[in-house]
Amino acid sequence: MNRKRIAVLTSGGDCSGMNATVRAVVRAGLAEGVEVVGILKGYRGLIDGHYEILGTRSVSNMLQRGGTFLQSARCRQMMDEAGQHLAAENLRGLGVDGLVVIGGDGSLRGALALQHLGIRVIGIPASIDNDIPFTDMSLGVDTALNNIIHAVDCLKDTASSHDRTFVVETMGRNCGYLAVMASIASGAEYALIPEVPYAIDDICKNLRRRFEEGRSNSIIMVAEGAGKAQEIADSIKDSIGFETRVMILGHYQRGGSPSAFDRTLAARFGVAAVDALLANDGGKMVGLSYASIKLTNLEQVIHAGRRPIDAVVLKLAATLGI
Ligand code: F6P
Repeated sequence: MNRKRIAVLTSGGDCSGMNATVRAVVRAGLAEGVEVVGILKGYRGLIDGHYEILGTRSVSNMLQRGGTFLQSARCRQMMDEAGQHLAAENLRGLGVDGLVVIGGDGSLRGALALQHLGIRVIGIPASIDNDIPFTDMSLGVDTALNNIIHAVDCLKDTASSHDRTFVVETMGRNCGYLAVMASIASGAEYALIPEVPYAIDDICKNLRRRFEEGRSNSIIMVAEGAGKAQEIADSIKDSIGFETRVMILGHYQRGGSPSAFDRTLAARFGVAAVDALLANDGGKMVGLSYASIKLTNLEQVIHAGRRPIDAVVLKLAATLGI
């Protein structure tokens, strides 16, 4: 009997924990006697036919490394039918019994398209934005949060030494999760997020009042979808004359060694994905739900739209004065 084969790829924006997930997929596959094929550069490599067979040596010393050794890409061709058909044909040519897709919402859309073309696919939610529904946490979010709070801790030292206001811009696309959670975890004064309207005049009035009360430095976190850090800093300077500095955290947030949480999540997601494929399941996404791993139909995931920020989190931030 032919040995079973599965493929794995990382797609879209990279995040910490992708390597640990590929390692888990490879180890779980090999433990079941399954050959694992690593597709290089996400859907781009799938369409162009770039892949390599992965063994234990391929994933040794990978657990703790950020980024993705398989590399990733944002592939426009995978958004149209011709590209999707090519990708499915190449997978059939490789003789794989299933595919694990590690990525964000666009990547999961591609996974669903392949499932519709007869390839069994299991998706693993990986995006620092934490905007994927049906999982409490996506891979990479916790590490990104740790990166942000490390940066803010450093900024607070210098802000307090100089009576300065810092405007810190986080990633998150149209989702304010990183900004609000990092504000709670770092003690920032404001979290400006796309989900909640804000008025810069009110912020300036509050900053002035805080200053008069003796609190002369502050951190204003702004999610990239809620405004530009430099423009906010300029408005504060123009309105109340405060010396203001800007830090755009950018892609720094996506890199670095994964946190313990992301490493263990990677292990659980990777193994669950392989288990599902070996049970002849497909068209699903693994997710974390109240500390358990749960499978949800990709169709539901895609049609649910963006995962909203939990109202409890917003209330918590408000109670803490953010
Ligand atoms: O989706 C992850 C993310 O890091 C977003 O937070 C950000 O808006 C985007 O990707 C940046 O994309 P790129 O790496 O293509 O510049």
